[in-house]
Amino acid sequence: MRGEKRVAVIGAGLMGHGIAQIFAEKGWQVSLTDVDEAILVKAREGIRANLTLLAGRGIGRLEDVEAALGRVKTTLSLEESAADAGLVIEAVAERLDLKQEIFRKLDAFCPSGTILATNTSVISITEIAAKAEKRQRIVGTHFWNPPYLVPLVEVVPGADTSAGVVDATYEALKEVGKHPVKVRRDVPGFVGNRLQHALWREAISIVDQGIADAATVDEVIKNGFGIRLPVLGPLETADMVGLDLTLQIHDYILCHLDRSTGPAPILKEKVRQGDLGFKTGRGFQEWRESSIEECKKRLMEHLIRWVREHQTG
Ligand code: NAI
Repeated sequence: MRGEKRVAVIGAGLMGHGIAQIFAEKGWQVSLTDVDEAILVKAREGIRANLTLLAGRGIGRLEDVEAALGRVKTTLSLEESAADAGLVIEAVAERLDLKQEIFRKLDAFCPSGTILATNTSVISITEIAAKAEKRQRIVGTHFWNPPYLVPLVEVVPGADTSAGVVDATYEALKEVGKHPVKVRRDVPGFVGNRLQHALWREAISIVDQGIADAATVDEVIKNGFGIRLPVLGPLETADMVGLDLTLQIHDYILCHLDRSTGPAPILKEKVRQGDLGFKTGRGFQEWRESSIEECKKRLMEHLIRWVREHQTG
């Protein structure tokens, strides 16, 4: 990879500022760009607030916060941002046309040794790369929110991505302390979001059919098999209980599970009525400002505890 330890992050929103933070904290020079100056200012404030909060909780050191911020340059120019970078990570809105255009431009002016990565959640890497010429250097790097606390990054090759680019991207992510995994093939949703949304489809279907209410569905997961998931994945569990038993269970149950190829009627209806969840105070459940804050705090505390338990060095 050219431009040793220099990364450009395109889009400074929720994911972009968090991705910039990861690299800056590990000593990389970061160039962060957006189309909106106010978002760039907010991103720097966000990085400072995140690092300060984490240092207060034993993740990183308070005296390193300003040095990390000193490594983050901001600019409104895509070209200036990517000029010296060895790795460019795009984190703009989840729109194919926008991403295709950004990769066309990046490909036109970045030297051929620069790796171009997209943080798309579900869109095909091959499609995102379609308008670029040197498609062998375009790769998916799917982080999870908040990217500075959740370790996983899925590294996804498009149809034309070279193995060398996948390897170099994987190594760079490892070096900054993430837990990269290589996905073999470019499919919508990659691995993580396919699994996550298979579960959500069934969860919503159970509510839609009146089998249990939303709170009960979440209770079943949080107090049941959800407790096992951090230490035992579903395929390890299948091996543990035995594949013969797994086969018997699947023989009986699979035909009863939701197999719809579109969103559930209840989800469409709620969105039509403006019941969007936290944003409007009502979704599958009712939300007050205090319960929203409590829920966000609960997640943050859980992630911080998890990282503290697993941090090395
Ligand atoms: P966001 O809306 O918070 O941030 C997107 C940013 O891109 C905005 O600040 C916007 O001003 C900027 N932008 C738009 N056009 C631009 C351009 N031409 N050049 C530079 N900047 C531009 O969105 P968020 O949530 O950070 O998502 C970004 C990407 O990350 C999406 O592809 C999304 O699917 C993916 N993602 C999001 C996750 C999440 O939990 N929010 C998790 C994993 C991936």
